[in-house]
Amino acid sequence: MLSSPIVPADKESIARAAALLREGKLVAFPTETVYGLGGDATSDKAVAAIYAAKDRPQFNPLIAHVADVRALDALIEWNENARMLAMQFWPGPLTLVLLRKKDCPVSLLASAGMDTLAVRIPSHPIARQLLAEVGRPIAAPSANQSGKLSPTTPLHVAESLGGKVDMILAGGKSAVGLESTVIDLVSKQPRILRPGGITKEQLEKAIGPVEAAMTDSSAPLSPGMLPSHYAPNLPLRLNAENVAANEALLAFGPDTLIKGGAMRLNLSEKGDLDEAAANLFAMLRQLDQPRFSGIAVMPVPNTGLGVAIIDRLKRASVR
Ligand code: TXA
Ligand code: MG
Repeated sequence: MLSSPIVPADKESIARAAALLREGKLVAFPTETVYGLGGDATSDKAVAAIYAAKDRPQFNPLIAHVADVRALDALIEWNENARMLAMQFWPGPLTLVLLRKKDCPVSLLASAGMDTLAVRIPSHPIARQLLAEVGRPIAAPSANQSGKLSPTTPLHVAESLGGKVDMILAGGKSAVGLESTVIDLVSKQPRILRPGGITKEQLEKAIGPVEAAMTDSSAPLSPGMLPSHYAPNLPLRLNAENVAANEALLAFGPDTLIKGGAMRLNLSEKGDLDEAAANLFAMLRQLDQPRFSGIAVMPVPNTGLGVAIIDRLKRASVR
C-alpha cells in the first residue's frame, strides 16, 4: 500500500469499509472525538496490525467500540455506575473501563493482557452506521503514529499513517476534537484515567464522587497515559504572556494584549472552551513548522473542557 484511499462516507463506502473490517483489514473512520484506526477487536491479527501501524507500545490497551449497549452484554460485566453513565452519556465521548466477561470474544491483546476492557459507543452517525454494519466490536485508537497529535480530519490521518490503512472513511472535522474521557469503574472509587469530552462535574452529577485524573503525575495512570504524548515537533511554552518574533502563538480569548509572533492562531477568540477543544489538534499541527523556534500558548482556564485541553497541552510540552 503506497497511500491509503480517502473515501467520502456514503452507504456504499460504509458497506465496503465494514467488509474490509470483517476481513481483518484496517479502516480509519470519523468519530465525534477524533478519527479512529479501526480493526476487528475479536481478531488477534487485526489488533496486532493496529499496534504495528501506530508503532504503539504493546502494553497500551485499546478501546472496543460498539453500536449499542446490547452489544456489550457479551463483552463486559455491567455494574450500577456503568449503567448510569451509559444511560446518560452514550452515545458520546465517554469510555468505560470494566471487567471483561469470562468468555469475552475481544482479543486479549486489545486489553494488553489485563482483565479489564475499555468500551465506548460513539455518537458520530458514520461511526454508528459502520459499527452496526460490521456487527462486531471494533478496536480503535486515535488514527495517528503513537505519541503524535490525534487526527481530527481525514487529511491528518493520511499524513500520519500514510499507506498503513486500507481505507480512510472521510466524514469531515471531528466536532469535539479531544479524545473521550476514560473512567475506571473497576476500582472501588470511580477514577478518571484520561480527562476528555465529558467533564468530571458531569460525571459526578450522575454517579457521585469521582477521583480526578492526575495530570501532573509522571507515573502513567492508565497504561496509555505516558507523560509525553500528543507531541508536536516544536517545543511548547504554556501560559505565555508574550511571544518572541520567531515563535508561533496559539492564543485563547482576546489576544490583542500579546503583540508579535511569527504566526498566530486563536483557539477561540470568544473564549469558548468547546470551540477551543475542537480546534486544538488541528491548530497545533498548523503551527508545528520547523521555521519557528517554538509554540507559545496563552493560558486556558482550568474548568470544564479546559481541564482536558490543559492535560493535552501539558503532555505535548514534555520533551
Ligand atoms: O475518543 C477516543 O477515545 C478515541 C476514538 C477513536 O474513540 N480513541 C482513543 O483511543 O483515543 P486511544 O487508544 O488513543 O486511547 C485509549 C486510552 C489510552 O490512554 C489507554 O491506555 C486507555 O484508553 N485504556 C484502554 N483500555 C484500557 C484499560 N483496559 N484500562 C485502562 N486504560 C485503558
Ligand atoms: Mg491516542
